[in-house]
Amino acid sequence: MSKPAVLVSRALFPEVLERLRRHFEVEDNPEDEVLDAPALRQRLQAKQGLLAAGGERISAELLAACPALRVVANMAVGYNNIDVPACTARGVLVSNTPDVLTETTADFGFALMMAAARRMSEAERYLREGRWTKWRYDLLTGSDVHGATLGILGMGRIGQAIARRGAAGFGMRVLYHNRSRLPPDTEAALGAQYVDKAALLAQADHLVLVLPYSAASHHAIGAAELALMKPTATLTNVARGGIVDDGALAAALRAGRIAAAGLDVFEGEPAVHAELLALPNVVLTPHIASASLRTRRAMADLAADNLIAALTGGVPPTPVNPEVLAAARA
Ligand code: DGY
Repeated sequence: MSKPAVLVSRALFPEVLERLRRHFEVEDNPEDEVLDAPALRQRLQAKQGLLAAGGERISAELLAACPALRVVANMAVGYNNIDVPACTARGVLVSNTPDVLTETTADFGFALMMAAARRMSEAERYLREGRWTKWRYDLLTGSDVHGATLGILGMGRIGQAIARRGAAGFGMRVLYHNRSRLPPDTEAALGAQYVDKAALLAQADHLVLVLPYSAASHHAIGAAELALMKPTATLTNVARGGIVDDGALAAALRAGRIAAAGLDVFEGEPAVHAELLALPNVVLTPHIASASLRTRRAMADLAADNLIAALTGGVPPTPVNPEVLAAARA
């Protein structure tokens, strides 16, 4: 019997590709070419599975053009690149990679917040540019993280992991806002207090965004929200571009309406708003919050597990639309 055909959209760990080859005819992308919509459509023809390793957009049009497709295994916890209802309507299973990246992403979110608060990037540039000629009492003074108020917008797994770091490790007062409030025992275990969004913005010394991107969260932080924040506050985004209005953020940082920002994700990335690139008080990183070697390998393995299970009659471990499985088995 011939093996199912799958596409791995971007370069990936050779060991993971090897494992996939035991089950599938694999078309990979060793040149790591970024596939635009026509290239993706062309390569996905007659494929039953896709391991989407680069946030490829999976639209209703693409699905209509690729009727053999049965599974999209996204190598990310976020899946806003995928039209899930369209996949479900066509019986295409979608999976993501939750849990394996939670602690690594929380580490990075916390590090980015600290880098913004303590002006790490600015300080390193200052030194490398040869501008450090003497000690001075107020040289590159930033704001404290320990004992400050941590505000978390979006309190899923990663938000909770950041809350634990703040409360237990840094003695922070932790406030959060989320679509749904956590159960009282979870709040108590985290030492986190639920507040409305306006109170979160007004009280946080360090605001961290960890909410999923959707039409509802588009520009959740814009000029009006930034105006509610303390002029000494920092803003960190390790969630998705588009949650922050990058133009409004650049204006707020330039005007000193907030003190600093740490951004790992951007509207229209990998392009970055020109004004953000020019500002000293923002730490910029290229969407690497989950990028420890061990975690990226775990994400690739989990995406492969989902693809293999879905196309060989197994139980995919982390489906996004499990109703597709139930319908197939009914
Ligand atoms: C995720 O897993 O969603 C990360 O942002 C990587 O895309």
